[in-house]
Amino acid sequence: MSAGSPDREKTWTVLELLTWTTDYFKRVGIESARLDAEVLLAHALETERLRLYIDYEKPVQKAERDAYRTLVQRRAQDRIPVSQLLGEREFWSLGFKVTSDVLTPRPETETLVEWALSKAKGGSQEPAQVPEKEGKLRILDIGTGSGAIALALASELPHAELMATDLSPAALQIAAENADELRMAERIRFVEGDLFEHLKAEGVKEPFDLIVSNPPYVARADEGSLPPELSHEPEMALFAGQDGLDVIRRLVAEAGDHLSSGGWLGIELSPEQADEVEGLLKEAGFTDVERRFDLASRPRVVAGRWP
Ligand SMILES: C[S@@+](CC[C@H](N)C(=O)[O-])C[C@H]1O[C@@H](n2cnc3c(N)ncnc32)[C@H](O)[C@@H]1O
Repeated sequence: MSAGSPDREKTWTVLELLTWTTDYFKRVGIESARLDAEVLLAHALETERLRLYIDYEKPVQKAERDAYRTLVQRRAQDRIPVSQLLGEREFWSLGFKVTSDVLTPRPETETLVEWALSKAKGGSQEPAQVPEKEGKLRILDIGTGSGAIALALASELPHAELMATDLSPAALQIAAENADELRMAERIRFVEGDLFEHLKAEGVKEPFDLIVSNPPYVARADEGSLPPELSHEPEMALFAGQDGLDVIRRLVAEAGDHLSSGGWLGIELSPEQADEVEGLLKEAGFTDVERRFDLASRPRVVAGRWP
């Protein structure tokens, strides 16, 4: 057996392939080794991941093994993320097309979606917290990437008007395809530009009741210690200056000019940035500054209300 691929002549069962690949992935430093092996094998076999457990003893045909081997090598040697190998990722129970032009939507970003929904519709115990108004609730997603946040919100808020911006035309193309595929193209207006730039020129009605953003927030200073998979995601989606706060600083400084009185700005960030961003929001004049925690109990969203 060679180092990077299982013996081609032998008959391999599902379980044998999974065991071999898990071990191989672990050796090259892939943390989610077993999960990745299962997802890739299910993809090569065009079946559901859970089906593999029933088919453990089933031999895998040569053509399927060849397809699987290619995926395994690209995962292990090139460290391409599973989402890009498959071309898709689930977020908020919706399927999103993913390429190297967009950040793969992450589970922690669902914290921002939950926060926005709590402001837009309230929870079982609390009323909605955006101001009462006659017209539709107006929501802006800055740095929409694959469209994950805007489309998740559109799926939950059938009466809201949604706008989304991104600096990357290639990302906006994927976002538009996702909106189309999810049959929500009519629900969202996409505008290319730097933060709020071009909204006015494009005739977008302001102000907004809610502004949400998962901006780039990785510090250049941390570049050397990042997992190799991140090199396959767009630089523009990740890095924001030496301390990772360049885009957030501008976002906080400019957002007030685009928010209705009583409207909210919610920002996803890296947990260690929460104190500083809370300070930035207060300095810019936001009130009721609050934070929300992700599933690992780390501060993941910091938000404030425009007076
Ligand atoms: C961290 S990704 C988030 C993508 C998506 N919203 C999500 O949560 O999966 C940040 C996105 O912001 C975009 N971006 C970076 N700088 C920007 C700027 N100055 N104005 C608008 N968008 C920007 C990037 O192109 C990228 O799509």
